[in-house]
Amino acid sequence: MDTSRRIVIVGAGGRLGAALAREYSRDFEVVGFNHAQLDLGAPEQLRSTLGGLDFDVLINAAAQTNVDRCETEQEEAFALNAEAPRVLAEICREKKARFIHISTDYVFDGEKREPYAEDDEARPISVYGESKRDGERRALEANDRALIVRVSWVFGPDRPSFIDAILKKARDEEEISAVADKWATPTYTLDLAAWLRSFLFDRAEGGILHLANGGECSWQEYAQWALDCCHAEGVPMKARKVGAASLADMKNFIARRPVYSVLGTGKYHQATGEVPRPWRGAVAAYVRDHVR
Ligand SMILES: NC(=O)c1ccc[n+]([C@@H]2O[C@H](COP(=O)([O-])OP(=O)(O)OC[C@H]3O[C@@H](n4cnc5c(N)ncnc54)[C@H](OP(=O)(O)O)[C@@H]3O)[C@@H](O)[C@H]2O)c1
Repeated sequence: MDTSRRIVIVGAGGRLGAALAREYSRDFEVVGFNHAQLDLGAPEQLRSTLGGLDFDVLINAAAQTNVDRCETEQEEAFALNAEAPRVLAEICREKKARFIHISTDYVFDGEKREPYAEDDEARPISVYGESKRDGERRALEANDRALIVRVSWVFGPDRPSFIDAILKKARDEEEISAVADKWATPTYTLDLAAWLRSFLFDRAEGGILHLANGGECSWQEYAQWALDCCHAEGVPMKARKVGAASLADMKNFIARRPVYSVLGTGKYHQATGEVPRPWRGAVAAYVRDHVR
């Protein structure tokens, strides 16, 4: 354990933040703040709490992640997703600490049909996407060594996500369906914690980095594979097949979602020589280790 290196995690109560806090606390000193302990909407609290703390790296995994809420609560979305990252970036610049900020595939409009690269133009089609894109820009303007890490379809053991919701349904119902005409790539929080390790202390350059598991899928393919893994592991499930729904059928969605938002990880490969494992392997590992 290297206690000479201290990592602050903002959003340590969230799906990704909790995973990062647990994984990194095995090797480093980690100070985590959940929502109740630190409010992104209170810049003066960010300054007073973090200003008095010594740390080498700050990872911001907190955000307003409710995509539909952002459409109706725009001011809140920009305060939490755009202004707070700017303040955090500034605090880190003053402290000469590394700032790693988590962003999203929803900064893209989804018109491409091949993976998005980091320098593809971000043209969001929702308030959530706009607020996250502004957060990236403001963070980089305030601190050009900030590292913006875009991820997609985050899943992991610390908070339920799409995969858990669909498996919960599949336990009780024979007929289930998921959207078949929207594509991205799942990102396993435990894999992300491993990929990010080489960017914590050793690489000082800032910019944007895409991180996700390999390949691409629709929500239907993602759900079908998760279900297949459950059957293979002997987890009792009523459903065997996931039917196809269309994005247009999702009448409860308020915000527009990009149809295709696969993140290309070529830059990560160039920087590290590593390739993220394919999403099917990550989902199989999650089901094996965390689904009962
Ligand atoms: N989930 C995905 O599929 C996905 C996809 C692409 C990108 N991302 C990005 O990945 C990052 C992590 O998301 P996640 O999946 O871990 O989502 P999450 O579980 O919703 O985590 C977000 C965390 O932010 C906290 N938070 C919300 N408002 C806050 C505030 N005013 N002050 C302080 N904390 C606040 C939440 O706390 P409470 O819940 O207690 O309010 C929650 O713990 C985010 O930047 C998100 O934009 C996620």
